Amino acid sequence: MTEKKRAAILISGRGSNMSALIDAARAPDYPARIVGVFSNRAGAAGLQTARAQDIPTATLAQSRFDTRLDFENALTGILEDWGAEIVCLAGFMRILTPEFTQRWAGRLINIHPSLLPDFRGLNTHARALAAGVAEHGCTVHFVTPGLDEGPAILQARVPVLPGDTPETLSARVLAEEHRLYPEALRRVALDGTSKPGGVIT
Ligand code: GAR
Repeated sequence: MTEKKRAAILISGRGSNMSALIDAARAPDYPARIVGVFSNRAGAAGLQTARAQDIPTATLAQSRFDTRLDFENALTGILEDWGAEIVCLAGFMRILTPEFTQRWAGRLINIHPSLLPDFRGLNTHARALAAGVAEHGCTVHFVTPGLDEGPAILQARVPVLPGDTPETLSARVLAEEHRLYPEALRRVALDGTSKPGGVIT
């Protein structure tokens, strides 16, 4: 195999998608390796998980910076120190500036808990239930300046079942997220890009 791509992960909390990526990247034939985990919240549980696996971690508090751009320039410095070639947002709950998304264009990917373009933004599971959709799911997409707007790399679908609550639906989608994200990163690391709109079953 050609050399593995160096991937960094950005989190804000629990980090279960981060763990799915770390686990997948342990396989000898996986085309990416995880070079660092960054969080904008020092208390993010996922940081402990990453440290326990000897993965470098870093945090920066926005409050230390005058502007979003200053914060993001410091973040880019960390990512460059790690030699990151691909940046994976995994529950990173912070809007990024167009300058940052353009700086990492084509190499910045995100997982979102809906079948984009449906239900951009927050509270996707409750909104899917309120809309009465029969199917819900998750999307890994390239990040562009518009919120949850970039081209989809892969999607996974789940049925909405009678009696579902936001919690039961969220758990069904999360299990799919943990399959979807490693497969999407694998494709991006191999191809540099991927065919938009693919679905895994
Ligand atoms: C995941 O469900 C992810 O799709 C979502 O946050 C959760 C993070 O969980 N991301 C977004 O809503 C981004 N708009 P995790 O920290 O356990 O991976």
